[in-house]
Amino acid sequence: MEVIQQVNIIRERTNALRSSGKSIGFVPTMGALHEGHLQLLRASVQQNDVTVCSIFVNPTQFNNPDDYKLYPRTMEQDVALLQSTGCDILFAPVAADVYPQQPLLQFSFGPLEAVMEGAHRPGHFNGVATIVSKLFHMVQPHRAYFGQKDLQQVAIVKQLVQALSFDVELVRFPTVREADGLAMSSRNKRLNPEQRQTSAVLYEALQQAKEKLGRQSLASIKAEAAAYLQSKGRVEVEYFEIADADTLQPLEQVAPGQEVALCIAAFVGPVRLIDNMLVNLN
Ligand code: PAJ
Repeated sequence: MEVIQQVNIIRERTNALRSSGKSIGFVPTMGALHEGHLQLLRASVQQNDVTVCSIFVNPTQFNNPDDYKLYPRTMEQDVALLQSTGCDILFAPVAADVYPQQPLLQFSFGPLEAVMEGAHRPGHFNGVATIVSKLFHMVQPHRAYFGQKDLQQVAIVKQLVQALSFDVELVRFPTVREADGLAMSSRNKRLNPEQRQTSAVLYEALQQAKEKLGRQSLASIKAEAAAYLQSKGRVEVEYFEIADADTLQPLEQVAPGQEVALCIAAFVGPVRLIDNMLVNLN
């Protein structure tokens, strides 16, 4: 696997690949790689001539300085894992090269950023849109892979691609979970054993809510989810939303045929976790 750190070098490299007719698959990450990331990478390796993975802990998308500071950084291990997937190029730039100047550009995503992660993490999606735009320009992929785990991020990137006419096909990959249902996440590394055990309640609450959809009012489903999370573990729920799967706008009721997204964000100890489930109502 080739490791490239400089922006001008990755550009040259992907320019050359594009002109020689190779298809480029791209998996942007912040490292601390786990099986969720690796499955995205394997899909890209299968579907493209060349796969590029980026590892960059993007400072502009962290609204909490501690979260940025404590974000796990495991580069050596990541390189070994990447090699095992058949990834061709690792792009691991440094912040000064990515951001020669403080970015001032502001994105606006309308109602999509007014809910859930957008509402609770001010500036987060502006940082995500900034770095994803930059990485798309640098890597020039034909296809880019994003996990359903970050459902609102996929929706934001989709809107970004449309708004700025990026010539990139987006692939949304299903959430990869631990045996007890916890969605894999780099932040799980920060949970102590007790917190790790507690964390499965997020998935349990989503499952229970899924079973109740179409049978109970959404208000009562949400209230019961909140009560379950509080009773089961020391979990501090930030939001539990039932939203339209496309627009991610909260719903007051559901209609037959509608695709619904159940979304949760909660603190387990000091670690903020998110998860979601998509449900098709027949
Ligand atoms: P990061 O959290 O490292 O995630 C990189 C990609 O892996 C994202 O598309 C994310 O949704 C996906 N992913 C993470 N956990 C997953 C899981 N359990 N199952 C499936 N996919 C999973 O998301 C980011 O980095 C950043 O915001 C980034 C897009 C790289 C921009 O900085």
